[in-house]
Amino acid sequence: MSRRGRAATEASEAAAAERPRVRLELPASHPHTGRPVDGVALLTLDRPEVLNALDSETMRQLVETLERLDVDDATRCTVLTGAGDKAFAAGADIREMADATPVSLTIANSFARWERIRRIRKPIVAAVRGYALGGGCELAMACDTIVAAEDAVFGQPEIRIGVIPGAGGTQRLTRALGKAKAMELILTGRNLPAREAEAHGLVAKTVAREETLAAALELAGTIASMPPLAVMAAKEAVNRAYDLPLEAGLEFERRNFFLLFASEDQKEGMAAFVAKRAPEWKGR
Ligand code: HXC
Repeated sequence: MSRRGRAATEASEAAAAERPRVRLELPASHPHTGRPVDGVALLTLDRPEVLNALDSETMRQLVETLERLDVDDATRCTVLTGAGDKAFAAGADIREMADATPVSLTIANSFARWERIRRIRKPIVAAVRGYALGGGCELAMACDTIVAAEDAVFGQPEIRIGVIPGAGGTQRLTRALGKAKAMELILTGRNLPAREAEAHGLVAKTVAREETLAAALELAGTIASMPPLAVMAAKEAVNRAYDLPLEAGLEFERRNFFLLFASEDQKEGMAAFVAKRAPEWKGR
């Protein structure tokens, strides 16, 4: 390659390295109408050249942005998707991971970022087109609900590269699909097509590929139009259904139900119903 050609390649590599790996649009604009979707942030994993593989810089940008949005009054719900037409995310970045050791993984402590996603209080809707594999499937499952394109495929193929899921796959897939199906998928690395994922309850709905983002944004827009305190309380309570025995979960739900009667939005919601008018939420 000529010196000029090499310089151009280096410049484009440097530009790619500096380009944000997670794009934020707030408020998101509806892909068909171009109108803003009130209260909804759109986050796009943006490394299409490697099928949005989740390297540590991408995860750092993703988690920091989610935490920022979680305390931002203008954001009530987030949609997370992948750039390009092939993938939501094809997993953790295998090139970055290939030379890791137990010591380097322990010192880097980058898996702590997944715990931080679990602590996000506002809902996150995953809009999945194409591959959601390995860490990509785990990321979709770490969101609160999933809207999938007809061509979406989910899976935990880690067994094929000598490891197992490491960011929740063995736990969340098993809770979502049941033991037999989760075992089959995790022990063979087989991909699960969107329709099958929907039939087993992993996915909320499956839509035509070109409708995926619109459907996810519309769902997020509806969530964003609900009273924010009740939305956060509902998310937290549903998540407890995974963690707690039934009795403790019911107790948690009841306490949060009672607590919401201290909010202005509860008074407003019920008064508006009685007066047959639309409620105006304050988030207080
Ligand atoms: C790094 C990846 C990648 C990944 C794809 N690419 N997946 N790079 N990490 N996970 C890169 C390829 O190397 C290639 O780069 C480019 O993206 C396009 O991919 P192709 O393989 O050429 O595309 P295709 O033939 O269409 O095959 C698609 C695919 C395949 C079936 C999804 O890419 C694949 O099997 N990917 C790996 C899936 C996987 O094993 N995921 C689990 C990872 S482990 P070049 O430079 O060659 O063009 C994991 C553990 C999670 O996620 C632990 C917790 C975080």
